[in-house]
Amino acid sequence: MTPSPPRGPQDIRGMVPTLNNTGFMSMHMNGCVQAFVDFASTCTSEVLDMGCAFGIATHAALATGARVLACDMEPRHLDAVTEQTPLDERSRLRTQAATLPGAEFPDGSFGAILCSRVIHFLTGPDIEQSITKFHRWLAPGGKLFLITDTPYSGYWKAHAPIYEEKKRAGELWPGFIADTSVYLPASSTRSSGFLNPCDPEILERVCREAGFVIESAAYIGRVTESGATPLPDARDHAAVIARKDQP
Ligand SMILES: C[S@@+](CC[C@H](N)C(=O)[O-])C[C@H]1O[C@@H](n2cnc3c(N)ncnc32)[C@H](O)[C@@H]1O
Repeated sequence: MTPSPPRGPQDIRGMVPTLNNTGFMSMHMNGCVQAFVDFASTCTSEVLDMGCAFGIATHAALATGARVLACDMEPRHLDAVTEQTPLDERSRLRTQAATLPGAEFPDGSFGAILCSRVIHFLTGPDIEQSITKFHRWLAPGGKLFLITDTPYSGYWKAHAPIYEEKKRAGELWPGFIADTSVYLPASSTRSSGFLNPCDPEILERVCREAGFVIESAAYIGRVTESGATPLPDARDHAAVIARKDQP
């Protein structure tokens, strides 16, 4: 089922602005989000959509029969997720406001975790802490589906030469932008401050250090308006699928 677009403005690229100026939710699922939805349909445990915004992935997973905990730092997003969930699916939906890296859930409680385009809002140590928690929260055999913006996404492309230089020098967080206002147009309503775009290698490293087995790590393109397939060499997002094996 394709979820209905959330109420509110949706721009021509199929991107819906979040209510707390943390960028946009895409109305089109990329391959990694679709892989989460497919895997969620096989899970007997509940699955977690961390940073769900208006719930594009939550609604798709619910439609497959999964039990979903939709989580976001912004309670108004969670109200929209609930409102747009069909009545006969609501018994399988829970919502909880929580913020990474402080969020806490019981160990081993989820069959899968999606965290799509959220952790680039965190510092390196906070990303490490969050991914360590994801590992703890997954049941053995569970999978993490992790997506971030990269140094080649949107406005941050202008910073890519600095990222590439720092990457060559071996910095651990070479994409880190201390002040995004340098790259934002004057008309932008997006919050300025720091941002930490990542590449697939960075995500792979942190996931391995947290104890995950990596199933795939790649750049992926943004799925554009009308769900058009991205160019094969597009690098808008970094996507990792990682597994928690039996101890
Ligand atoms: C760019 S949107 C991504 C939405 C959706 N997951 C997607 O991939 O299109 C980021 C979402 O993550 C939430 N968010 C940002 N930082 C967060 C944090 N530290 N903890 C929990 N949620 C956060 C925002 O409120 C927003 O809903």
